[in-house]
Amino acid sequence: MRLVRVMRYGAWAFAIVLTLVVAYLTVNYYRRDTVLPGATVVAIGGPYRLQGTNGEIITEASFPGKAKALFFGFTHCPDVCPTTLFEAGNWLKALGPDAERMQMLYITVDPERDTVEQMTAYLTAFDPRIIGLSGTREEIDPVIREFRIYARKVPLEDGDYTMDHSAAVLLFRPDGSFAGTVDYTDPPETAISKLKRLVGAQ
Ligand code: NI
Repeated sequence: MRLVRVMRYGAWAFAIVLTLVVAYLTVNYYRRDTVLPGATVVAIGGPYRLQGTNGEIITEASFPGKAKALFFGFTHCPDVCPTTLFEAGNWLKALGPDAERMQMLYITVDPERDTVEQMTAYLTAFDPRIIGLSGTREEIDPVIREFRIYARKVPLEDGDYTMDHSAAVLLFRPDGSFAGTVDYTDPPETAISKLKRLVGAQ
């Protein structure tokens, strides 16, 4: 009788300790995830399906095993886009053969004017490895939201419009996780060192 009671208490105590250990490990597992250096808590990105200037449909699953650098802009952009795309060509050259391990994508925030044909013509002025992506407004808007891009139409006095948009290049590891940004103000050495780290060359 006494032995049964001891065993019953023992079993309860064991169950309680086990529950506490599992709870502790679970909490710690998720907490540890948020303090890992370089890790990000904010989810950036999501599924997309757009038309590439290389004639293919490009999705988040395209270019398996490659890191990705995503840049959002529009072909009528007077400064940020052409500067960034020109610089991106220099980054790819600086990476040498390691540039094979990443894909740079230029996604329009102005699909009304930036048809695939317009994107293709525009990108001939830059490194041919950069692929442009376009689609319908309905396809582009969710991508802008998922990647937390700021893009706004600004009317001009002549009835035309320009786009105010985020200037950072978003970097993603081959597993799709967000690895940080190359900022518009980054000097070339900083940008190249970030990309080298991204492709595991540094
Ligand atoms: Ni731009």
